[in-house]
Amino acid sequence: MANEIGSKRFLALLGSPRKKGNSSILAEQIIQGAESVGAKVETIHLHAMKIAPCQSCYTCQKRDSKGCAIDDDMQAIYQKLIENEAWVIASPVYWFNMSAQTKLFMDRCFALPAYKKDAFFGKRIAIAMSYGDTDPFTSGCVNALRSFQDTFRYVGAKIVGMVYGSALDAGEIKSNMSLMQKAEELGKNLGSQ
Ligand SMILES: Cc1cc2nc3c(=O)[nH]c(=O)nc-3n(C[C@H](O)[C@H](O)[C@H](O)COP(=O)(O)O)c2cc1C
Repeated sequence: MANEIGSKRFLALLGSPRKKGNSSILAEQIIQGAESVGAKVETIHLHAMKIAPCQSCYTCQKRDSKGCAIDDDMQAIYQKLIENEAWVIASPVYWFNMSAQTKLFMDRCFALPAYKKDAFFGKRIAIAMSYGDTDPFTSGCVNALRSFQDTFRYVGAKIVGMVYGSALDAGEIKSNMSLMQKAEELGKNLGSQ
């Protein structure tokens, strides 16, 4: 979907409480790559949003549902998810999975098709993750990556690529030059398709 000046519109959802943390830095590299090929990217810090956990009322799954019954910041995010053709989702590994901020957002996406039928279909997605341990398996990063893969396969969205790497302190990920390069390439790829 191109906007009035013809550029593609992307949405970045950052799931770390650290605004300048490692997963956000990786996402920023993806964003730069996408912008370099003409995409316009809006960024949302999930930690700053009021997003309640899904309450399993199934209102969103009812015939002719108008959407999620919870009136919080997700209501605006649903519209942005629909309007933007590609999403960048970034998360740190917390206790061998994605962060709680990211999972709250993911669970609430259950309601997205109530706002627009086939809302997930054709969306292109880039994933960025960081972890403190030395590899994606012992850190638990693979659990989150698998979760993203299973979810987006189930709803018919396409993961274009996933970048992830080891870094503990905020900003440490910048020294991993090959990963930074890979993230930028992923952004270009996301923006070129
Ligand atoms: C509550 C908490 C739980 C964590 N759990 C893990 C973990 O299970 N595995 C791991 O490798 N690193 C773990 N870490 C380290 C972070 O994943 C790591 O510092 C990451 O780079 C943080 O990303 P951010 O800078 O984007 O927040 C944890 C950190 C915190 C604060």
